[in-house]
Amino acid sequence: MPDALLPEPWWEEAVVYQIYPRSFQDSDGDGIGDLAGIESRLDHLSWLGADALWLSPIYPSPLADMGYDVADHCAVAPELGDLRGFDRLVTSAHQRGQRVLLDLVPSHTSIEHRWFREHPEFYVWADQPPNNWVAAFGGPAWTRDERTGRFYLHSFYPEQPDLDWRVPEVREAMSEVIRFWADRGVDGFRVDAVQQLMKDADLRDDPFATTPFVLPLGDEYGRLDHVHSEAGSEIAVALEAMREAAGGALLVGEVYRPTRDLGPYLEHLDLAFAFELLHAPFDASRLAEVIREGAEARRIAWALSNHDFPRLATRFGEERSALAAMLLLTLPGTVFLYQGDEIGMVDGAGGSPPFDRAGRDPYRHPMQWEPEAFGGFTTGAPWLGLSDPLTRSVATQRDAPGSPLELYRSLIALRRDLDGPVEVEVRGEALEIRRGAHTVVLNLGDREIERPEAGHRVLSTIPGRGDARSIAPREGAVFWDS
Ligand code: NOJ
Repeated sequence: MPDALLPEPWWEEAVVYQIYPRSFQDSDGDGIGDLAGIESRLDHLSWLGADALWLSPIYPSPLADMGYDVADHCAVAPELGDLRGFDRLVTSAHQRGQRVLLDLVPSHTSIEHRWFREHPEFYVWADQPPNNWVAAFGGPAWTRDERTGRFYLHSFYPEQPDLDWRVPEVREAMSEVIRFWADRGVDGFRVDAVQQLMKDADLRDDPFATTPFVLPLGDEYGRLDHVHSEAGSEIAVALEAMREAAGGALLVGEVYRPTRDLGPYLEHLDLAFAFELLHAPFDASRLAEVIREGAEARRIAWALSNHDFPRLATRFGEERSALAAMLLLTLPGTVFLYQGDEIGMVDGAGGSPPFDRAGRDPYRHPMQWEPEAFGGFTTGAPWLGLSDPLTRSVATQRDAPGSPLELYRSLIALRRDLDGPVEVEVRGEALEIRRGAHTVVLNLGDREIERPEAGHRVLSTIPGRGDARSIAPREGAVFWDS
């Protein structure tokens, strides 16, 4: 177990900043963010207090799934840079004490990956669709390959054929990919779509779902109970291979399952995301439930947003986003922040025509650094328009008391002082989180409430609260009992 080897791994309380490379910073005026741009903005991460960065896919890709359709796992997309630029980025990050995580996409490739033609045995084939499986974005999970007339399996878009992890050569090929990047100094991987790595060996039909899945699914996908089209206990075969190749590098699983089902995955992965928190309604009882479950499961990666779901500020509005930030950053364990959440970025208009067929463009608009038309993101024409850089940007929020950016920075700084396990309690519409000598009270309701007896306020989501005797409606406050 990695825990036993590394009693205090670096990620245990880390804040990991998710970068969407095309939308972070353009350095060459082509309107697309790139690795050199990311390198030029690493000081923002240091200033904020992030310990690590996760890069969403940087590999060559025809972009059917905006990079999650990988055409070559051991190269950099030309529009983002090259391997030398990648090495420079890793060196610069390490010089600042920041760790670097890559996105590993092991369950499928792009249909344009050379393996699809040169190694058809790496994929799952049938003469006719053998079952009722559907793809996550809708439509059948089997598509006819015009060249061979046979059908291949794809859990996502038809441009993303699934790899067959039962084939030893697939496990070896992907292990080589992991070693390739680990040898270049990468500190870990966020592992994509882990539950889709293994499927039923007999390709049996999925039964119809009798109750809604705990997490949101597309309408069509949600109609089935994915007991056969997603991994069962055999997942260990795939994860063991990955673990062996990764050695001590961090493996964070994107396992789209309820927290209670993460056990078998955490036998091999270091961490797994708690998607129940990301999707929880902002209700004290439900939040308490998912935090307790996560704390019990241990080794949870907490996140409230990413490039796949509507932005935090759009879902919650300004005031409640501040409470959400306080919640996230006071939880014990590893926390992931999505770029732009720290300045309260909201969903954008998306591309016209859309880049992503599943409608996720609005969550991927360029980062807003400066209050100018292109947000300081590019000097060219941005690949996806800027949303509202004149309203919110890093430059205008830095050193501005009460801004989302200042709150995030203060919370990350305060996080270093929090210790001890988490205890959560619901008090009416308020959620109380205790961490050692600190008590966090999130008043989710519309009425003023009593503050805790002991301790004084060290931080509030509402500026100027001083040590007021009450907690205002929709205020989040941290008290320290010195
Ligand atoms: C999860 C990724 O976050 C998402 O963007 C992608 O579409 C699917 N996995 C398929 O790779």
